[in-house]
Amino acid sequence: MNEIVELIKKLPKAELHLHIEGSLEPELMLKLAKKNKIKIPYKNIDEIKNAYNFHNLQSFLDIYYQAAKVLIDEQDFFDLTWAYMLKSKENNIVHTEIFFDPQTHTDRGIKFDHVINGIHSATFKAEKELGITSKIIMCFLRHLDEHSAFKTLEQALVHKNKIIGVGLDSSEVGNPPKKFKNVFSKSIEENFLTVAHAGEEGSPEYIWEALDILKVKRIDHGVQCLKDEKLIQRLRNDEIPLTVCPLSNIKLKVFEKLQDHTLKKLLNKGLTVTINSDDPAYFGGYLNTNFIESQMALDLHKEDIKTLVINSFKSSFLSEKKKKKWIDQINNLV
Ligand code: ADE
Ligand code: ZN
Repeated sequence: MNEIVELIKKLPKAELHLHIEGSLEPELMLKLAKKNKIKIPYKNIDEIKNAYNFHNLQSFLDIYYQAAKVLIDEQDFFDLTWAYMLKSKENNIVHTEIFFDPQTHTDRGIKFDHVINGIHSATFKAEKELGITSKIIMCFLRHLDEHSAFKTLEQALVHKNKIIGVGLDSSEVGNPPKKFKNVFSKSIEENFLTVAHAGEEGSPEYIWEALDILKVKRIDHGVQCLKDEKLIQRLRNDEIPLTVCPLSNIKLKVFEKLQDHTLKKLLNKGLTVTINSDDPAYFGGYLNTNFIESQMALDLHKEDIKTLVINSFKSSFLSEKKKKKWIDQINNLV
């Protein structure tokens, strides 16, 4: 096998941008739809896969929210998360920071506690049985109002020991970070770390707002920053990580083809770039596939791969001691 592909597979990696609802594979979707007697507009796996033809973020979200309706009880959230953990093992992911969207479920009458407890028990089992550590980040849906985000934050408070941070996702354009200024400020007061999707489809102004108003520690996507030299300087000086998702950006037509992706340019500008899978069941691959396809399309060298993997730990919410352990291990391998 190609030497660099082997290296990608062998290296321990952290994944920092993964929506657990976006890891719902067609097989599990059909199984849960049947079990929970939920009507979905597909009869079989081929029909599901044929529907995954997106022209932008919204066309994907419409299908993603509809599919999430098959998730009903705590066991369903456990099974969903456990399936992702097994994929993580295959991909040599040793640490993962998982997003979940509580409002997608609570707005359909599912209890917040069932969602978080199902996800959390699977991460607990994965640490014991697979040696994979996890952090859980709850995202506010930005197409909903700030009041709804506040209600979600309130529900999360009793689960503080299971949730490390809050994020912001869903339809970006027209829903700027500043819309969530107060709920992010309250989240920080409550000791949650903050991240936000910004500059996926939205302008660099959204990235500025996420940094200056929401005080985020990482920017999810952030690929639109290249349009603003001052912003690049800010991201570089403050070493703000960008959790980039190459296959997602192609499937959602942020870039026409992987060869046009700006990941290498971002790296060459000295930014803290990481590679992630976003919604792997929808976008054609898990973490190693994102690495391997990007490597081939952009001619990433061994040193680029090493930097990306080290960045994944450096940018994580692990303790400094654990970060060092993994980074030392990578330095011994490359
Ligand atoms: N929710 C799930 N995937 C997302 C993405 N790529 N952007 C915004 N919201 C999302
Ligand atoms: Zn995302």
